[in-house]
Amino acid sequence: MTRITTCVFDAYGTLFDVAAAARALAQAPGQGGFAPHWQQVAADWRLKQLEYSWLRAITGDYADFWQLTQDALDWALERAGLSDPDLRVALLDLYHRLAAYPEVPDVLAGLKARGLTCAILSNGSPDMLEAAVTSAGIGVHLDAVLSVAPLRTFKPDARVYDLVGARFGKARGQVLFVSSNGWDICSAAAYGFRTLWVNRAGLPVDRLPGRPDRIASDLAAIPDFLEG
Ligand code: LAC
Repeated sequence: MTRITTCVFDAYGTLFDVAAAARALAQAPGQGGFAPHWQQVAADWRLKQLEYSWLRAITGDYADFWQLTQDALDWALERAGLSDPDLRVALLDLYHRLAAYPEVPDVLAGLKARGLTCAILSNGSPDMLEAAVTSAGIGVHLDAVLSVAPLRTFKPDARVYDLVGARFGKARGQVLFVSSNGWDICSAAAYGFRTLWVNRAGLPVDRLPGRPDRIASDLAAIPDFLEG
């Protein structure tokens, strides 16, 4: 088996906790009205954000991921019957500086200590990725933050996965791609990357071309996979 030299991570839901913005606001003082809605809003927000990315990739009607994130939030808030503009602003502000999942900094530091190249490959626009990387304090462990923005499309368009080879000059089999999104993992596996699905939500494997090489509950499983 080809030796893996490069670990490439999806960002939202994989490194950064996408539910953290709504959860944090629900727990903030004076937000009792939002508390009963936060889980539905967080789920709708994420699902619509992804749907809009897939649809806009198909139609070619590109708008950047920050615009999609705002559009998706507007849909989610309207569905929940929430129209307070301050709530919208507060959620977007929190989304801009999402926390990383707890295991992320140590796992990235460990991979760098083993000599691996580490990078993000994300739908996120460069400014939102930079803000999240900075607020999570993980920039020191990353060799690159690759955004779809120059391509004006979204995953799973294969041209997005091509960004990894273009940047690092590695064969697909030398790359371990790590994502919490089942559809992203299946697509990356079909593309030819090695794959580890961080199945944080305990979901079934998507019925798509490509199967994950390994399924784990968080990123801490990566060193074991590299040794196996
Ligand atoms: C990303 C989304 C798909 O970071 O999670 O690309």
